[in-house]
Amino acid sequence: MTPNTVAANVPRLDLDLYGRSALLNPIGTYQRIRDAGAVVWLPRHRLWVMGRYRNVREALRDDATYLSGAGVAANPLTNALSAGTTLASDAEAHRQRRRVLLHSLSAKALASAVPVLQEEASALITRLADRGQFEGVSQFAAHLPVRVVADLVGVNISPTRMLAYGRAGFDGMGPFNPRMLKALPTGVRFWSYSRSVKTKNLKPGGWAAAILAAQREGNLTSAEAQAMVIDFIGPSLDTTILASAQLLWSLGTNPAVWNELRDDRTQIPAAVSEAVRLASPVRGFTRIVGRDTEVDGVALRRGQRLALLFASANMDETQFAQPRVFSLQRKGSNLGWGFGAHACVGMHLSRLEMQALLEALVAQVARIDVEKPKRLLNNTLQGFRSMRATFCGEDSPEASMYR
Ligand code: HEM
Repeated sequence: MTPNTVAANVPRLDLDLYGRSALLNPIGTYQRIRDAGAVVWLPRHRLWVMGRYRNVREALRDDATYLSGAGVAANPLTNALSAGTTLASDAEAHRQRRRVLLHSLSAKALASAVPVLQEEASALITRLADRGQFEGVSQFAAHLPVRVVADLVGVNISPTRMLAYGRAGFDGMGPFNPRMLKALPTGVRFWSYSRSVKTKNLKPGGWAAAILAAQREGNLTSAEAQAMVIDFIGPSLDTTILASAQLLWSLGTNPAVWNELRDDRTQIPAAVSEAVRLASPVRGFTRIVGRDTEVDGVALRRGQRLALLFASANMDETQFAQPRVFSLQRKGSNLGWGFGAHACVGMHLSRLEMQALLEALVAQVARIDVEKPKRLLNNTLQGFRSMRATFCGEDSPEASMYR
């Protein structure tokens, strides 16, 4: 059997995983996939998909069978454009690239960013509480990524352009559908920008400059270094914005959990993890099956492409009781930041950002109101595009009625 043929009796679903209705109703779509089998063939995309927690986690742990080196997108063009990145690499090349990124993203390296994040978060919450109503995604969730993280990356393009590149990059990871094709020109500009980056145009001491320095020191080839600029620009903003927007929504719609958090700040890390589980900003990435294998009796052949749905795994009721509920009592890890060799290298940074927001919120805000949520439509990212929100301070009459 070639990689392009699958047996007639395997679990299969005739759904468009990247279509509008799947994007608008992701939870129902993931449920159908989990119900259909441990691994399911999607004929429309000629793609296998995995949606159950246990299987996705096992596949992420087995990076010798499920390979990233031929790209993690669902189309060959984006896979070619992402060659050389940390995300799209295996084995020793992957470990070496990851080490270079961790020079900028380890807990030790990020220690000096913590007070900056805390000050920015505190000033932001004061401003928003004074303002009355505001737009929750652009004015709250995007603030730290745009104001602090973009500056730490240190490239010579505006945060708005970084955001446009990142979003197009994620759209470009879908199959060749209209959304992917619409994003393609911006995705190609993103790629050519990464190839044009020169040290003299970068912020000294910034993360992008650190990648080019690793090349000068002989730790990366120049092709790798240029490709790896994508590792910082692509995933550093939108992912955390979507998770922070989920935090705002979940706390606004669950006043009992919000009060629990205000009474016990040690629960802040749990609130951050739970928001990432519910948001699962990265729906999933693909892998190439590197050797013939079997998943719950279904044969996967070397060379076939398989999508691992982090977002579906995080909604698996066999792993998370009442998965739609925002709860601070969850045990065990979720797959929102991935797992295994490719687990998110920016996890610590995104945690710090969300923790800074929560600490400032708990200190200054008694009540959070949210309404009118709108969903983002993207081939790879999921979450809120916008929502209206209001913060009420401790001394407002509405806040005292609420507690
Ligand atoms: C809440 C925020 C975030 C979420 C939900 C998230 C999600 C993920 C996921 C699911 C993966 C695994 C990819 C795979 O297995 O193929 C990943 C990897 C990665 N993330 Fe994040 N991410 C976040 C924030 C960030 C930030 C802030 C950065 C950069 C500053 C970043 C950079 C990366 C990179 C470079 C990789 C590839 C790591 C590797 O292949 O070894 N991420 N992320």
